[in-house]
Formats: sequence, structure tokens, C-alpha cells
Amino acid sequence: MSSLEGLLSSAVRPAFAEISGDALADPILRRSTRCDYQLNGALPLARTLSVSPREAAARVMDSVDLRDLVDLVEIAPNGFINLTVRDDVISRLLDEQLADPRLGIRTATEVKTIVVDYSHPNVAKEMHVGHLRTTIIGDSLVRMLRRLGHTVIKQNHIGDWGTPFGMLIEHLLDIGEANTAALLSVGDLNGFYRAGREKFDADPDFADRSRRRVVSLQSGDEESVSLWRVLVDQSIGYFQHVYAKLGVLLEPSDIVGESFYNDLLPGVTADLAAAGLVTESDGAMCCFPTGFVTRTGDPLPLIVRKSDGGYGYAATDLAALRDRAGRLGADEILYVVGAPQREHLAMCIATAREAGWVPDEVRTEHVAFGSVLGPDRRPFKTRAGASVRLIDLLDEAVLKAGQVVREKSPSLDPDEHESIAEAVGIGAIKYAELSIDRVKDYVFDWAHMLSFEGSTGPYLQYAHVRARSILRKAGHAGSVPISVREPAERRLALALLDYGGTVTDAIADHAPHRLCNHLFGVAESFAAFYESCPILKADEPVRGSRLALTEGTALVLKDGLGLLGIAAPDRL
Ligand code: ARG
Repeated sequence: MSSLEGLLSSAVRPAFAEISGDALADPILRRSTRCDYQLNGALPLARTLSVSPREAAARVMDSVDLRDLVDLVEIAPNGFINLTVRDDVISRLLDEQLADPRLGIRTATEVKTIVVDYSHPNVAKEMHVGHLRTTIIGDSLVRMLRRLGHTVIKQNHIGDWGTPFGMLIEHLLDIGEANTAALLSVGDLNGFYRAGREKFDADPDFADRSRRRVVSLQSGDEESVSLWRVLVDQSIGYFQHVYAKLGVLLEPSDIVGESFYNDLLPGVTADLAAAGLVTESDGAMCCFPTGFVTRTGDPLPLIVRKSDGGYGYAATDLAALRDRAGRLGADEILYVVGAPQREHLAMCIATAREAGWVPDEVRTEHVAFGSVLGPDRRPFKTRAGASVRLIDLLDEAVLKAGQVVREKSPSLDPDEHESIAEAVGIGAIKYAELSIDRVKDYVFDWAHMLSFEGSTGPYLQYAHVRARSILRKAGHAGSVPISVREPAERRLALALLDYGGTVTDAIADHAPHRLCNHLFGVAESFAAFYESCPILKADEPVRGSRLALTEGTALVLKDGLGLLGIAAPDRL
């Protein structure tokens, strides 16, 4: 809710409450294209009073004095009340908002400790487009939550443990540490993994060694552990390289891999068993959280310890939940994980709650997302059918953006060209990712995401550049108070006034696409304003006011893109 919306609704709510006799009456106020705001609450009131909606609306408006805020009230026959806000009110509120470094974004009323589990790639395996989604969405959520004042604890739950490590260590020994390091650091992780796997399948001797190695690693044998560390460290170096290229906040200190929980796993199973939550089934230890059934209606097991005594993915997630609600003191735990893991996470969470490790007050949420599709609407793959390496995708984005930028601004010097190509290329990928409702699948489409038209990263970056270039030409920012008059000025101002409320709403639903839509609306309103209202050629004080509106646009676009993790260069 913007402050303007707040003022309007606190002005009308008492009238609705008094006339309806319902102290909680909460009329709905929304932005409208027909006027500025539409007030929609006369319908239930009309029923209570047994009068027409129009009559009900008229009674409300007779009893409130909105003259300080509104200069036109129209009541439609259906009882909708159309409000046109006074120009001076819009101007004053926007002046206030732009003078505030928070640009109208309010701090959360209740500051929380929020754990965000995201990115979580796997050691000695390539990062793919699924990891792109969780990394970008998680990064934006972290930025927004921090802005609202929450304490955010990033947890990069990398896959760094399990039976494949026996084979991976033996393969490392076969080809030597130096070769391994070379492969893993340049990112031929899949090649390394595949070669190990092939040997494992073809060579019984190697398979045998690998199995013995797993046992020795699990028993904490020093040599095995230090070889495992080589694999993990090399991979982490590679992940950080990808993160740097992506411009996300994740740091090595955010890594809390599966192996971190190893020592806690025996306690997890023992305590589950002591609580009577474990059933043995074919030698495996299973939990059956309430409410989960198979397709045929049988209770669905969550395997905590396999029949060979090994712990799996679920045990680690249970230990992690316990650790986050306990040691980390989380009030909220967010899992930015693909939709296919919905049931796994729900079962782990249900079990952890039944065990009393995650009390009711601690909120958990699976911030799920859909798949990335190719142009054929099938899972995104290379032409050869392999999964696409994230790093290749990023390099290609920067390369393609470089061409687009060169066409648009042939005169940029090479240094500047490179950094702008990076901002535009990476920004394009991020925006394409974030601007679609995350639960939906989306089609990875270079032509669309790199276009300077439509709801794209480059379009928004360009709107920001255009605003900045006007301000540069003017030689100074707007200094006189804003005074909106023209319809295009009013529309832009109202859009800017909605910024703070939009951020609050977007984070409440973990929905960065709402912020994208809003920023796109700001950029479009700015384009319309720029088309119809001369800025630099206007006379004072109109010129100053329009420059201030232009500067407000630049500030909001830059800040909003920043919350999405997207750079906003001053030139392009
Ligand atoms: N490493 C897993 C993967 O790449 C995702 C881990 C998700 N987080 C979790 N706590 N289970 O699919």
C-alpha cells in the first residue's frame, strides 16, 4: 500500500464502519485506469442497508470529507466510487518519498531471522539452468528481505556427500590431483564425473576400490577426507566463479553442505526413534508423517536411514531443519527449490514438526519454481541433447549483449563496452527469470530477453539510462518542488508513489515478478511522459518539476533493479 493509498483508506474506512455498523468493514481501494483510485465496498453495504449500491456509496461519501485529498468523486451506478486525487497531494507525497533514501519502502513491523536455502549445486557436477533459477530468485529474495530490515541467513546447501564420492576420489587418484584440479576449475565437471562413472561401470576392480573408499571416507579416514576436500574446494572455487559472473551475494561462508550435518545424523535418527516416529521397513528406518499417502492410499515413507546403514538426502534435510530452527534461531525458513521436490520438502518439514524441532511459530515455505524450457517448449537442452552448462549460458549472454550494445551505441570505448555488455547480458537473463511468475515454466528465448522493447531487462536499463542522460544534459537534478498537472505527469507520479507498497507486496508473496511488472509500468509511464511533456525545453518552474520527476524515475528504476540483483549503468 502506498502512503497515498493509506491516507485515502484511513479517510474512508470510519465512514464505512459507522454506516454499516461493522467496525471491521474494509472497503477495497485500488488503482484504476478510469480515475486514480476506485473504492469498492458499497455492494456489501447496500445489502446491509437494503438500498441500491449507488445510494449506499452516496451515503458514505456524504459523511466523509475528502477535500484535502481528492478533487473529484464520481459514483458509478454499480456503486463503485471513482476518486481523482488532487494534483498538489500527489506532488507533495512524491516530494516526500523522493527525499527519503528508502524511497517509500517501509521497514517490516516485525523484524525476523529468515533462513534462505538456495542455489545448492552439487560438488563435481555441473551447474545447470535449474541452479540458475534458484540462485537468481533466492538472490532477489535475500535483497528484498534485507531491505525490509530482516536478518537474513543464506544457506547454500550444496550436495557434497554420498556414495559417488568413493568413485570420484578413486578417479582423482587415477588421473592425479593436478589434472583433477584443472578439470574442475575450468568447469569440465561433467566430464570428470562421467569418466569416473564409466570406469565404475566397466571396471570391477575400480568399482571395488570405490566402494571401499566410501567406507573409508565415511569412517573419517584422514587421507580419504583430504582427497574429498580437494574435490569440494575445487568445486566451491568454481561455484564462486559462476556467482561472481552472475553478480549474486553468495559467499563461501554461506556454504553449509550436506556433509556439515554428518555428525548430527545419528542423533536425528535416535531422537526420532525415541519419539516413536520411526518404523523399520525392510531394514530401513522410515518416518510416516501424517497426511502423506501413496497413490493407492498407503502411508508414504520418508527414508531416514537406508537398509545398508547409510543416511540419505532426507536425513540431512531433517538435521538441517533442526539446526535452522534451533542453533540459527530462524523465525522463517525458505526453500528456493524446484517444484519437483515439493513432496520431499513437505515430508521433511512435517516430520521435523512432529519431532518438535520446528515449532508452530516458525514458518516454513517452499518457494517453488517451474522449469526452464527450450523454444520447443521441452526442457532446455543443447542441440546435442545435453543439459546446458550455466557458465556457457552466461558467457553467451554477455557476448550477445555485446553485439546488441555495439549496434545501439557504436561509439562506446572498449572498457566501457565490456562492463555494459556484462550488465545488459546478465541483467537480461535475470530479468527474464524474475519477470515470470516463478511457479510457471518459462521459455528461454534470447531474442526476447535481449530486446529493448517490452518487459525486458534491457528496456528497463535503457529507461534508466535515458532518464540519467536527460539529467546530465540539464546539468543538475530537479531542485524545485514537483508539481504535476499533465495526465502523463500524474500517471508517472502515481506509479512512482506505488513503489514502496509494491516491494512490500512482492516480498510478502516471494514474488519478484510483481516488482518487475511495477518497474515495467514505471518505465512505460516515463516513456509516455517523455513523449508528451517537454522537459529540457520547458520553462521554469515546470522544467525543474519535470527534472525532479525524471530523477525520481531514475532513482526508483535503479533501486528496483538493484533489488532484483540487476545493474543499472548510467550509460548504454
Ligand atoms: N543439491 C540439490 C540439487 O541440486 C538441491 C538441494 C535443495 N536444498 C535442500 N535443502 N534439499 O537438486
